[in-house]
Amino acid sequence: MKVEMTEIKKRPIGVFDSGVGGLTVAREIMRQLPDENIVYFGDTARLPYGSKSKDNIIRFSRQIIRFLLTRNVKAIVIACNTASAQALDVVKEEFDLPIIGTITAGARAAVQETRSRKIGVIGTEGTIRSQTYTEVIRELEPEAEVMGKACPLFVPLVEEGFAKHHIADEVIDIYLREMKESDIDTMILGCTHYPLLRSRIMAYLGDKVSIVNPAYETAMDLKRILEEKGLNNDRDSLTKYEFYVSDAAEKFKQFANSILPYNVETIQQINIEDY
Ligand code: DGL
Repeated sequence: MKVEMTEIKKRPIGVFDSGVGGLTVAREIMRQLPDENIVYFGDTARLPYGSKSKDNIIRFSRQIIRFLLTRNVKAIVIACNTASAQALDVVKEEFDLPIIGTITAGARAAVQETRSRKIGVIGTEGTIRSQTYTEVIRELEPEAEVMGKACPLFVPLVEEGFAKHHIADEVIDIYLREMKESDIDTMILGCTHYPLLRSRIMAYLGDKVSIVNPAYETAMDLKRILEEKGLNNDRDSLTKYEFYVSDAAEKFKQFANSILPYNVETIQQINIEDY
């Protein structure tokens, strides 16, 4: 049966992450593409992804994409940097719809921004270990020098509500002192949670370092891709957002309501292992 293009345009964007962090990406999509419907999935039963093996990240990503397809999505954004770094290339080959991640968007913005070609990247252990940011940056700018640093404590700091506490400054100092003393002029916040520490990281590194937020850049990328493919939604009804998690719906809801520009009322829990 042939589906009309006008029907396909109305379908939602699937956005997924290991948990709440990807809401920083969903928030940018809501801001930059206010006409797009969104189905968000947070894999709260199996987080953190940052310390898991590549094989498991690929398996989780496949299951989530299968679930999102049951929600009739027209495109998928892997909001999680760890899953983007480790699973995007594999799942892109396996599924027949546009799937984008955060890495290329972040790397491209950093290459455009840097003057010294010395770029810092911070992320989870999995993201930094994978070297995916470094590879993509070097494809775009072969002369670039990339300094990576895993900052695993940043995720629990943000999730436990310590992003604005002085303890955050102490952890930033421990992780980022070497970067501060280096001659990088651009830094990628290569993890979903780090935009919520952005102002403190900026204050710590000072004016000489530009900060790249892949969440913002990914929403820009999505906009461009939807327009190129003629998949962008034309405003004809109220935008709809749906949220699903694999565990701890109430905790997710509290976090979502602390960072999203509107009130989330319903979070549905599903068993992701069924997909
Ligand atoms: N969402 C993950 C990322 O962006 C951080 C949280 C986790 O480790 O699951 O890499």
